[in-house]
Amino acid sequence: MNNNYIRIDQMSGHVGQEVLLKGWLYNARVGGKLQFLLIRDGSGLCQAVLEKTDGNAELFHEVKRLGQESSLMLTGAVRADERSIGGYELAVSDVRIVHKTEDYPITPKEHGTEFLMKHRHLHLRSRKQWALARIRHTVIEAIRDFFNKNGFTLVDTPIFAPAAGEGEQTLFKVDYFGEQVALAQTGQLYLEAAALSLGKVYCFGPTFRAEKSKTRRHLTEFWMVEPEIAYIDLEGLMEVAEQFVYSIVQAVLEKRRAELEILERDIGALEKIQLPFYRVSYTEAVEMLHSARVKEFLENQLQQKQHQVLELENNIARWTEEKEKAQKQWQQEKLAQQIMAAREEVGEWQEQISNIPHHMELAAGFKWGKDLGGSDETIISQLHDRPVFVHRYPKAAKAFYMKPDPQNDKVVLNIDLLAPQGYGEIIGGSMREDHYEALLGRINELGYNQADYEWYLDLRRYGSVPHGGFGLGVERTVAWIAGIRHIRETIAFARMMGKIYP
Ligand code: 4AD
Ligand code: MG
Repeated sequence: MNNNYIRIDQMSGHVGQEVLLKGWLYNARVGGKLQFLLIRDGSGLCQAVLEKTDGNAELFHEVKRLGQESSLMLTGAVRADERSIGGYELAVSDVRIVHKTEDYPITPKEHGTEFLMKHRHLHLRSRKQWALARIRHTVIEAIRDFFNKNGFTLVDTPIFAPAAGEGEQTLFKVDYFGEQVALAQTGQLYLEAAALSLGKVYCFGPTFRAEKSKTRRHLTEFWMVEPEIAYIDLEGLMEVAEQFVYSIVQAVLEKRRAELEILERDIGALEKIQLPFYRVSYTEAVEMLHSARVKEFLENQLQQKQHQVLELENNIARWTEEKEKAQKQWQQEKLAQQIMAAREEVGEWQEQISNIPHHMELAAGFKWGKDLGGSDETIISQLHDRPVFVHRYPKAAKAFYMKPDPQNDKVVLNIDLLAPQGYGEIIGGSMREDHYEALLGRINELGYNQADYEWYLDLRRYGSVPHGGFGLGVERTVAWIAGIRHIRETIAFARMMGKIYP
């Protein structure tokens, strides 16, 4: 059409000028001779005002009949208007309809999560979803920046893996020309080989785990970044991990404030994330779980949540009354939407409330030696306003390659980093067993096929050095920083048990 095409996020630089916007109809409202069109174009939302004149009656009528998500190009003058979403609006002089849409399945009314996940290919067009996509983009950019600026070399590790890296239970088996192999659960073992060549390396890619549980923290396909460093110790590893995570949080605070606001994230809580992060040993974490402090904390939570449910229920009752009295359809729809959202929230709170007694029991009865469960991690992470390293877990609860603590060989030199506010583990890492005999012993003890690990044992035969690394899950990190409860919305098309469409 013409060359004054801009995106909505560039409007501030074009006040008073005639521009062209290309986008989709997000919502519309008619007021007599005016139509208020809410337009989205991938960069933002803007209100476009079309006025009925003697010359455009036909166009006015045609636009009025457009359904949500019709695609269109609009020409008009940019005006600054504080009341308008984004602060600018378009005084429309012409509209070109690109594609008329009818009966778009996702209306501005509230839909249940299941419905939205089934329509995920369209759900991606909603506001919350662009905010999440952009935060994910920035998290990944910050991840790459950190390693690239700190002397790490990117090494891409294979997806077809002949042997387990993180335990046999979660392997996805695939047929590889008649041989059974698995999809990578980690790039770590290969990365150790690369670290002994390049010193500091990282890999970043999709990772597969046949997780047979549908929790809010587990996907079957997720993205993991893993650094691996030669000549490091456990304290050094924690320092790298905390600087790394801190840099990600800072990048999002700097570049994605608007998106955090769309998601109603408590930004103050993110700003509290400072260095250093907390460090507690596994044994101290177990003592914490047994303490009166945890019991009190959970009892308080129970009360708070019950109080929140009452408040929501009062709101629902009030909105229901208001809705019956409301004159305008848009008022009724808005109230219906609020009621539906509040009902979903009540459902969530009630589920959490019903779990608390069980979580209290699990915490109080936690036995030294077990891996921390999801609810234990949640509790520990809720007690802290910064991420917490839990280090030195029992050897029996962890992977074969972890190096035992020379001071106490019942525990290994490992770390899990728990994000605050109940988000739980985002990083798992360790020092690696670098001693040939000890590693071989572990491989045999666990009944692994030694032949699969010969190359890995070679790393302990030739120029072995102390080395270690960790893996950070992108989706869990995004969920925490964006403040959303379930990780399924942090990736465009989530893969979970029972979910492969779309
Ligand atoms: O703790 P994990 O299993 O550690 C490893 O895989 C090591 N080989 C990493 C290393 O030392 N190089 O996984 C690391 C992180 C977890 O902390 C979590 O953030 C994420 O990967 N993760 C998952 N995210 C989503 N869904 C799942 N099923 C996940 N499993 C692990
Ligand atoms: Mg882990």
